Amino acid sequence: MTAPAPVRTSDELIKAEEPVLAHNYHPLPVVVARAEGTWVEDVDGRRYLDMLAGYSALNFGHRHPALIEAAHRQLDRLTLTSRAFHNDRLAEFAERLSALTGLDMVLPMNTGAEAVESGIKVARKWAYDVKGVPADRATIVVAAENFHGRTTTIVSFSTDETARSGFGPFTPGFRVVPYDDLAALEEAVDETTAAVLIEPVQGEAGVIIPKDGYLAGVRELTRRKGCLFIADEIQSGLGRTGRTLAVEHEAVVPDVLLLGKALGGGIVPVSAVVARREVLGVLHPGEHGSTFGGNPLAAAVGTAVVELLETGAFQQRAAELGVILRDGLQELVGKGVLGFRARGLWAGVDIDPAIGSGREISERLMREGILVKDTHGSTIRLAPPLTVTAEELRSALVALERVLGS
Ligand SMILES: Cc1ncc(COP(=O)(O)O)c(C=O)c1O
Repeated sequence: MTAPAPVRTSDELIKAEEPVLAHNYHPLPVVVARAEGTWVEDVDGRRYLDMLAGYSALNFGHRHPALIEAAHRQLDRLTLTSRAFHNDRLAEFAERLSALTGLDMVLPMNTGAEAVESGIKVARKWAYDVKGVPADRATIVVAAENFHGRTTTIVSFSTDETARSGFGPFTPGFRVVPYDDLAALEEAVDETTAAVLIEPVQGEAGVIIPKDGYLAGVRELTRRKGCLFIADEIQSGLGRTGRTLAVEHEAVVPDVLLLGKALGGGIVPVSAVVARREVLGVLHPGEHGSTFGGNPLAAAVGTAVVELLETGAFQQRAAELGVILRDGLQELVGKGVLGFRARGLWAGVDIDPAIGSGREISERLMREGILVKDTHGSTIRLAPPLTVTAEELRSALVALERVLGS
């Protein structure tokens, strides 16, 4: 028998990563060892309020009992079949996700980027098979400052130089227009356009909320011009904004919906393309796939996630507690906060750069026992689990005020 590895401190573990782990992230210096609900604990036993929630992958908090139970039950029975065979969990997952979103069909994948890639492929196929765009001429219109993931095709239409630089040659067929600009969209969409792909709220850009009427305008324009509306709700969806989907704020139903993150309940990667039958129906055997997509463990957890959302309780909490978040941030405007954007339990907060960069503010909050993450420059993002209590939320706002004043 080998002896157990010696227990290492946070500092030792951070140093140990340096030579063996690719440096594609710059994490805050906290080493999380366990978590429950809205709280995480580091290897040295310090507790932190999680105000990031895994970029919305932990909308239901860490280790939600119903989700953990669904995962345990499935682990004891069947975990993977591949799609070479049917499994007894996938039908219910697809039925319930379809009912939750009001769209007909589900293409199960794993990560967010995979859902985006799959959505792009499906839209192109639809353009050739249904719309009649000449072969290899399909275009997809996207928004500046978008974030849709990290694959080669997705970074091809990113406007973030750090995400793109050094990774060419890029995939052609994308047109970039300013976000929240219907006139620019009108000009960019033509007879080759397969789809308009946007985030209903731009998360990574700093929780950018478009003007009222934009999403409804995109819906009207895409319908009128005969192309698809793809809504990337990988970060904005599944309760975060106070509704099941952010597009619901404008009573919009897209043709294609991309989901991920919280769909896996913070347990396993689960993503999906959900769409009208006319759109997803273009795929035939062999044209697209994934070894892990739709696996029974993912389907069991995804079904349990949908079940939580069916109650409406999380959406309601996000809407109600969102008022506390908004009011609390409003109090800080002029006291170190230059401005903020908030919808539900999700906010992008612009800190006065004279006080500190987003990174510095995040580090100071970490020392106060609050975990957040910067987006760009001096903007931080607040996105607690939807299980956060009013008291916890207020304590985070008090800590932010302290940090801004210190
Ligand atoms: C809107 C949006 N789309 C896609 C992605 C990519 O998801 P993943 O990191 O699971 O590939 C993200 C991740 O932050 C996102 O916010």
